[in-house]
Amino acid sequence: MDEMINIALPKGRLGEKVYDIFEQAGYACPSLKEENRRLTFENPELGVRYFWVKPSDVAIYVERGAADIGVAGKDILLEYSPDIYELLDLDMGKCRMCVAGPADFRDSRSRTLRVATKFPNIAREYYQSRSREIDIIKLNGSIELAPILGLSDVIVDIVETGKTLQENGLAPLETIIPISARLIANKAYFKFKNEQISRLCRNVEAIIK
Ligand code: PRP
Repeated sequence: MDEMINIALPKGRLGEKVYDIFEQAGYACPSLKEENRRLTFENPELGVRYFWVKPSDVAIYVERGAADIGVAGKDILLEYSPDIYELLDLDMGKCRMCVAGPADFRDSRSRTLRVATKFPNIAREYYQSRSREIDIIKLNGSIELAPILGLSDVIVDIVETGKTLQENGLAPLETIIPISARLIANKAYFKFKNEQISRLCRNVEAIIK
């Protein structure tokens, strides 16, 4: 059996910050810092193998066991409900899921609310809990354009600094839920490699606390 721990990191700035924490926790993999386009890196001495994965795909790799553990945003976990264990809140990549739109937007219950989003399940659940009928317009990016061009009334999206909204003449209207990065594990590998994964989890926790 493969005794290495296989770790899916979200490619990008958050992933690099997460790797720094893992390095401090004793799971260094120096080749990962080299400037190249490789996507897999390993340090056999320490028993770790890292993969750079598109952030929204990390949960898929972990759910299907292509990676034992990984780091995924709570937004993705809420949207796709993957069958994984959530081990640790890494207290990084913090932002919030919001309803946003023109600052002077007033909802009128007399008509269906048009909501543009990359997160249809989160949006549906939020408005269902408020018994508000909505029409979801699923987009894949640049969501802020939708209310500007009249494609939607509001958006449901991630707000970090609020700069994108502000620079496009929009404002956060309601906070749905705070978001942060989570350490997640494949359910079967969490059992098979319990000792290694639990140790890694404790070591990482000791660094972030
Ligand atoms: C996210 C989100 C907002 C932006 C918020 O987009 O969808 O557009 O970041 O950040 P801010 O509050 O700090 O301005 P992302 O960069 O993921 O690109 P996208 O357009 O592909 O969604």
